[in-house]
Amino acid sequence: MFDETDIELRRDELQHFLDAQKSHSARNEMGQFATPFPLAYDIMRFVAGLLPNRKVSFLEPAFGTGVFLSAFIRAIGREPAKALGFEIDPHYCSPAKKHWSCTKAEIKCSDFLHQTPDQLFDLIATNPPYTRHHHISSEDKVWLQKAVLSETGIKISGLAGLYCHFLMLSTKWLAPDGLSCWLIPCEFMDVNYGVAVRRYLSENVELIRIHRFNPEDLQFADALVSSCVVVFRNRRPSERHRVEFSSGGSIISPGHMRTVSIETLRQNGKWIPHFSKRPKALHAGGKTLGDYFFVKRGIATGDNGFFILDEESALRHNIPSRFLRPILPGPRYVKVDRIKSDNGIPDLGRKMFLFSCDLPKEDLRKDYPTVWQYICDGEARGVNEGYICSRRTPWYSCEKRDAAPIVVPYMGRGADGGRLFRFILNESDAITTNGYLMLYPKMDFAEKLKNRTALVSVWKALNGIPPETLVSSGRTYGGGLHKLEPRELMRAPACDAISGI
Ligand SMILES: C[S@@+](CC[C@H](N)C(=O)[O-])C[C@H]1O[C@@H](n2cnc3c(N)ncnc32)[C@H](O)[C@@H]1O
Repeated sequence: MFDETDIELRRDELQHFLDAQKSHSARNEMGQFATPFPLAYDIMRFVAGLLPNRKVSFLEPAFGTGVFLSAFIRAIGREPAKALGFEIDPHYCSPAKKHWSCTKAEIKCSDFLHQTPDQLFDLIATNPPYTRHHHISSEDKVWLQKAVLSETGIKISGLAGLYCHFLMLSTKWLAPDGLSCWLIPCEFMDVNYGVAVRRYLSENVELIRIHRFNPEDLQFADALVSSCVVVFRNRRPSERHRVEFSSGGSIISPGHMRTVSIETLRQNGKWIPHFSKRPKALHAGGKTLGDYFFVKRGIATGDNGFFILDEESALRHNIPSRFLRPILPGPRYVKVDRIKSDNGIPDLGRKMFLFSCDLPKEDLRKDYPTVWQYICDGEARGVNEGYICSRRTPWYSCEKRDAAPIVVPYMGRGADGGRLFRFILNESDAITTNGYLMLYPKMDFAEKLKNRTALVSVWKALNGIPPETLVSSGRTYGGGLHKLEPRELMRAPACDAISGI
């Protein structure tokens, strides 16, 4: 057994010692820029959350002195089931071999790109050499291009840096569903030589996350490149797959995150714009949804358990219909995208109503004793003392609202759902609770939408807005939860189909 803190301290010392013995230009040619341990550790902590709950095998194709192995051990708390590293330069490889000899790790002093796997790994993690193409000999380039083509079916440009070849040639070492994690320059997302890598990441494997560090916050002070972490799985992506693009902060706790559909990534030339916080206008002369709609949160009742009743409870408590308004059930109970009306009530099977009353209690006692009793029951439960109810007069009078023709649940979850936000056509007189945003057409537009065909076209057009446009207008929380506030939805770009009505 070894002490993991001690082994990292000694490894870090060794790295500095070995780096100091080489010139900057020699290290540049061989792409020898070591990863700081805290960065490797952050990446391994992120990856730990994606690994199966068992001992896994680990491969480091450009080992250096083994910072990723060290970070893996610290993040997971134990050695991998098997660890293998390749390092081409004996200057690093021999001391690294000696350093890791107290563990089960096997370190080979050879060129990773010319190896044939004799076993498959659950995890690959590396910071490969960034060696630029003019430091790769023409024979090597031809060999690498052929190898990439036969391995992936993709032709790679002769201008690609060595890290592109590493990434595309490594998956043959990965077990099915195995994870691959790369600290590489951001360039491939922008430049023409990166097309092959973008195609590979969007077609051949299931890309999970790209985290871009702040361009100002260079990860390797001496390498002068802006870097990103790319994490993918060895499996084909589903057509509905969505990829997380995060930026700023760290991969574990990014400053900003949005998801982008695999379809968009396949169509889209450059990927860097996916990190931007503001989506570009879709068309519509730069207009936003706020040019056509007022968006309001549905009403906050103060206590849905008291104010929202199903038909059976309303009958049981004998509440007259003048105190009841149809209301939509919570979004997860509304499976359809078009709500038909049954005499103004949503035709959804279970009928729900909002209880609200403006009359003083004394009058109710006299004229509507069952309603009076219901209110007394609520007071006995302390409903009137809640934050919202205690600020209303009388406390049982809810906000008055018109029904909105289009509503949208304000929360969307899941990185794999095709539509995170769905616009629901509400043909009933139902209002909603604050689990929804309600879209009220502005004056002139409201006139146009009196025409049912126009309303249906607008509803369809809203559902055609790419999810990433809506996601990037709103906020993204951990675990793929997305939320849209009214103002955020109003700032989302409109599209031609809406402006053309
Ligand atoms: C950017 S450094 C990273 C080292 C280490 N992974 C880290 O993160 O600190 C890349 C390493 O890959 C090594 N290397 C370059 N070409 C290689 C190859 N074809 N096969 C194996 N290692 C290679 C370099 O010598 C260098 O140590």
